[in-house]
Amino acid sequence: MQLYKKIVLVLVVLVGVATSPIYAADSSTVLVTGANRGLGLVWVEKYVERGWNVIATARKPAAAVELKALAERTGRVRIERLDVTDAKSVAALARELDGVPVDVLINNVGMLGDEAGQKFGALDPQQFDTFMRVNALGALLVTEALMPNLRAGKQKKVAGISAVVASFDVYPRIHHGLYYYKASKVALNMILRNIALDGEPDGIAVAVLSPGVVNTSGAPENRDRMSPEMRRSMIDIDTSINGMIDVMDNLTIEGSGKWYRYDGSIIPW
Ligand SMILES: NC(=O)c1ccc[n+]([C@@H]2O[C@H](COP(=O)([O-])OP(=O)(O)OC[C@H]3O[C@@H](n4cnc5c(N)ncnc54)[C@H](OP(=O)(O)O)[C@@H]3O)[C@@H](O)[C@H]2O)c1
Repeated sequence: MQLYKKIVLVLVVLVGVATSPIYAADSSTVLVTGANRGLGLVWVEKYVERGWNVIATARKPAAAVELKALAERTGRVRIERLDVTDAKSVAALARELDGVPVDVLINNVGMLGDEAGQKFGALDPQQFDTFMRVNALGALLVTEALMPNLRAGKQKKVAGISAVVASFDVYPRIHHGLYYYKASKVALNMILRNIALDGEPDGIAVAVLSPGVVNTSGAPENRDRMSPEMRRSMIDIDTSINGMIDVMDNLTIEGSGKWYRYDGSIIPW
C-alpha cells in the first residue's frame, strides 16, 4: 500500500475511535443509583475497572465531583440525574435511556438517618414517609420504569441494597430502635421478592443484597450504640463491593428473590 494511503487509513481509524460512542458494543452495562458517594461510588469504580459501561445516577450531578472525575478519566461512565422518590424524575430517566439495554440494575440509594430520631419519645411521623419513599418506593419506581431496558439487556439482573437489621431472625433482638430504617428495609425486601416474581417470565433475576457494616456516611453513626457483634462485623468497602459483585455475577433465575450477604451466604428473612 502506498504511504499516503496508509496515512489516510490510520487517520480514518483514529477519527472513528475519537467520535465513537463511549459504549463499546460488546461491554455489559450496569446502572447504579445514588452513585455520587459511599457504596454507590465504589460500585461504579469496580464495574469500570472490570471494563463495564456504567450509567451512574445522582440527585445533583453538578456536585458529584468524584463521579465526574471518574467519568472524565475513563470515558465509561454516563451520569444521569435521578431523585428516586420523584416519579417525574424517574420517568425522565426512563425517557433519557429509551432503547438503552441495561444488563444489571443496582438500586443502591438508601438512608439510615439519625438514630436518635428513630426511637420512642422522638418519633416524627413525617420522617417515616421519607424513609419509606427513599428506601422502599424508590427501588420499585426505578425498576418498574427500567423494565424495558432490563428486558433488552443480556444479563437481566436487579439488586436492591437491604440491611441485615431488617431480618426478623438476625438482629432485632440485639439492636434497638431504628424503627423507620428497619421497617423501610423490610418493605424493600418484599418489594424485591415481588419484582422477582414479576421478572421471572422475562428471565430477570433479582437479588436482595446486604453489604455488611461498612464505614460510609450511611453507616451507623454512633458506634457506642452498636452491639459488640455489629462492631465486630464491620468490613472494608472493597470487601463489601467485591463480594456483592460476585453475588451478582453468580446470580441465576433459580437463585432469584433470595437475600444474600456480601459473602454470598443466605440471610434468613
Ligand atoms: N454503609 C453501611 O454499613 C450499610 C449497611 C447496610 C445497608 N446499607 C445500604 O447500602 C446503600 C448505600 O449505603 P451508603 O452507606 O453508601 O449510604 P450513603 O453514603 O448515605 O449514600 C447514600 C446515597 O443515596 C443517595 N440518595 C439518598 N436519597 C436519595 C434520593 N431521594 N434520590 C436519589 N438518591 C438519593 C445519596 O445521594 P445524596 O448525596 O444526594 O444525598 C447517596 O448517593 C443504602 O441503601 C444503605 O441503606 C449500607
